Amino acid sequence: MAFRIPRGTVDLMPGEVEKWQYVESKARELCRRYHFSEIRTPIFEHTELFQRGVGETTDIVEKEMYTFTDRGDRSLTLRPEGTAGVVRSFVEKKVFGQPQPTKWYYIGPMFRYERPQAGRQRQFHQFGVEVFGTEEPAMDAEIIDLGVQFYQSLGLTGVKVELNSVGCPQCRPVHREQLVKFLTPRKDELCKDCQSRLDRNPMRILDCKNERCKELTQDAPKMVDCLCDECRTHFDAVKEYLDVLGVDYVLNPRLVRGLDYYTRTAFEFTVESKGSQAGTVGGGGRYNGLVKEIGGDDVPGIGFGIGIERTLLALEEQEVTLPIDYGVDCYLVTLGEEAKRQSVTLLKALRQAGCSAERDYLDRKMKGQMKAADRAQARYVAILGENELKANSIVVKELATGEQETIALDQFVDYVREGSRK
Ligand code: HAM
Repeated sequence: MAFRIPRGTVDLMPGEVEKWQYVESKARELCRRYHFSEIRTPIFEHTELFQRGVGETTDIVEKEMYTFTDRGDRSLTLRPEGTAGVVRSFVEKKVFGQPQPTKWYYIGPMFRYERPQAGRQRQFHQFGVEVFGTEEPAMDAEIIDLGVQFYQSLGLTGVKVELNSVGCPQCRPVHREQLVKFLTPRKDELCKDCQSRLDRNPMRILDCKNERCKELTQDAPKMVDCLCDECRTHFDAVKEYLDVLGVDYVLNPRLVRGLDYYTRTAFEFTVESKGSQAGTVGGGGRYNGLVKEIGGDDVPGIGFGIGIERTLLALEEQEVTLPIDYGVDCYLVTLGEEAKRQSVTLLKALRQAGCSAERDYLDRKMKGQMKAADRAQARYVAILGENELKANSIVVKELATGEQETIALDQFVDYVREGSRK
């Protein structure tokens, strides 16, 4: 039997993986500037963490988790998202007892059992940030701006910030009541999922992709009209700070997000895209009750998760070429046994000087070695033959220009190093 890759997963092959490294390096550099530290939590956690954190009635917990029993009879789940694990760590390490805020970021795989399509996989990757210990609306705006800066740093254009406030445990029941009152007479026309959502999690109906449900909820009561004074003041301040920062946003009163922990600020980053799923390149919001829910003090939090696959897909659709150098600095072509012998020390010297260097290992003739240098997208090809060895020199050719020079062997490493820096 020939083995095949599991459905909804991909191999990131050389050639592609460099793009990931580039995107990740941009995320890390931005996080350094915004003074975030990296945290790495496990890829699996106790199932209950997600049931409690993400919410029992969410699609993620109801249908999408990779849950298994380990040999010690524990129920574990591959993380479907990053926030719950980070909060667990924040609580378990008692970081809430330290001076706040705490600003963390992560990059890594997440797992959801969804129907795979463009921009939707079962193993996908997120760049996420989480901030604990402040309710300050300037932080909400900065987090949103950080997301926008990330896309900009990659050259992605047309990213829209969709913004809403989903209120708090004080004002949400008011909206819930209005919504249920509005939808109950229309219950029979809702899709099956939404009919059961009406009792369990009516707000989620606003997020249903079913056309009829969308129509029916067109004039449904909006959360923003039900906000309590504190939530309204907070939301107004977030919008003001976004204006100050020059971040464009559109208010989307239907934005509810797929996870239950959100309070107040909720947002999504979207781009125009051919695939319907692929358009949401990131999302996040405030979760003021989550730390307490997971067993910590009453510490507020806010963050986002950006989908790396979807970001790369959007870049591809916009035909953005990332500035990635795939080539090797120097390819050493040798002629004769002595040159081949000496090449190992030259390669080592180049590598120790910080250059990438390669040679032939298959006893290819000169022509074959030159072809290999081309394939390796070498900046320089250095040719070492018997004549050069006698003269203690080496011929260095720059492939792009075709310029060729004979250089003293003891100058060679410096020459390549200086040239590669240009
Ligand atoms: P989320 O909206 O569930 O939020 O996911 C964030 C992003 O991950 C999505 O906008 C999308 O780009 C990407 N994504 C989600 N599912 C898939 C999938 N199956 N395939 C490919 N990409 C996907 C969260 O996960 C929250 N933890 C974000 C957050 C952090 N909120 C506060 N802090």
